Amino acid sequence: MAQLDAGDITQAVIDRMADCADERFKTVMTALVRHAHAFVREVEPSEAEWIGAIEFLTATGKQCDDKRQEFILPSDTLGISMLVVALNQLKAARALSAAGAPTPTEATVQGPFYWEGSPERELGADIGAGMPGEPAYYSGRVTDTRGRPVANCVMDVWSGDGEGFYDMQKGPDAGMALRAQFRTDKDGNYRFWSIKPTFYPVPGDGPVGSMLARMGRHLNRPGHMHMMLKAPGHERLVTHIFVKDSPYLDSDAVFGVRNSLVVRFDAHPPGTAPDGRVLTTPYHTAEYDFRLVPEALAA
Ligand code: BEZ
Ligand code: FE
Repeated sequence: MAQLDAGDITQAVIDRMADCADERFKTVMTALVRHAHAFVREVEPSEAEWIGAIEFLTATGKQCDDKRQEFILPSDTLGISMLVVALNQLKAARALSAAGAPTPTEATVQGPFYWEGSPERELGADIGAGMPGEPAYYSGRVTDTRGRPVANCVMDVWSGDGEGFYDMQKGPDAGMALRAQFRTDKDGNYRFWSIKPTFYPVPGDGPVGSMLARMGRHLNRPGHMHMMLKAPGHERLVTHIFVKDSPYLDSDAVFGVRNSLVVRFDAHPPGTAPDGRVLTTPYHTAEYDFRLVPEALAA
């Protein structure tokens, strides 16, 4: 019989995938249908409300271009991106503890402002010169979970400026700024200069901003420096270091804060920095060591 009603339509949609050859895809789509239908049963949207939801998704898609990624924002601001990160990290942590290995550096969300292909810079370079914000010297070491140095690890770093804006938000012709790739030295050490990042709002002028306002939520993320670490033989790590004295550590708009990633930015008066550079303005130093998961131990 062709006619289906509210009681049997869910199973009928699932049954239509009988010929799906991709088992994983079938599992994912079956769960999606089950949960989406359960959501509709619970909420019982009016037809106008459902069209409103479709219009929200349409507006979200239309807001995307090669520099603006609006579609990641519902996932980020509803905690789904962080849930995916946390569940994957949990899987890795279980595999590591089964192998008797110490825990790796925690991951967090990538966000929409990663821009592939940033310039490679020498260790110690200043990527914050001329940008709004107070200078900050970042240094530390990259090791594996057993403490062995990871040499030649590519460390892709990016942040907003001291006023909370990323290069990608500064108009269609804006070039890359406050982002670069560094390589750790033979002992796994890294160091570079940038600015001390400030808190900033996730983009609020699109449909997701309207959604958050309607939910009675603020848009802000605490100050953070993004880092993506890639080294042969190791799992890629996408993470941040968070500024310890930043507002919004307790209410990050994307739920990305991990206590282990909150780092002190020590304030210094003008003078000689740890790398010998002489500064005529106050500056900060932030030290953080990263532990990568060897590929052989990954889940
Ligand atoms: C960010 O940290 O760049 C970010 C992450 C999620 C949503 C918006 C921005
Ligand atoms: Fe960010």
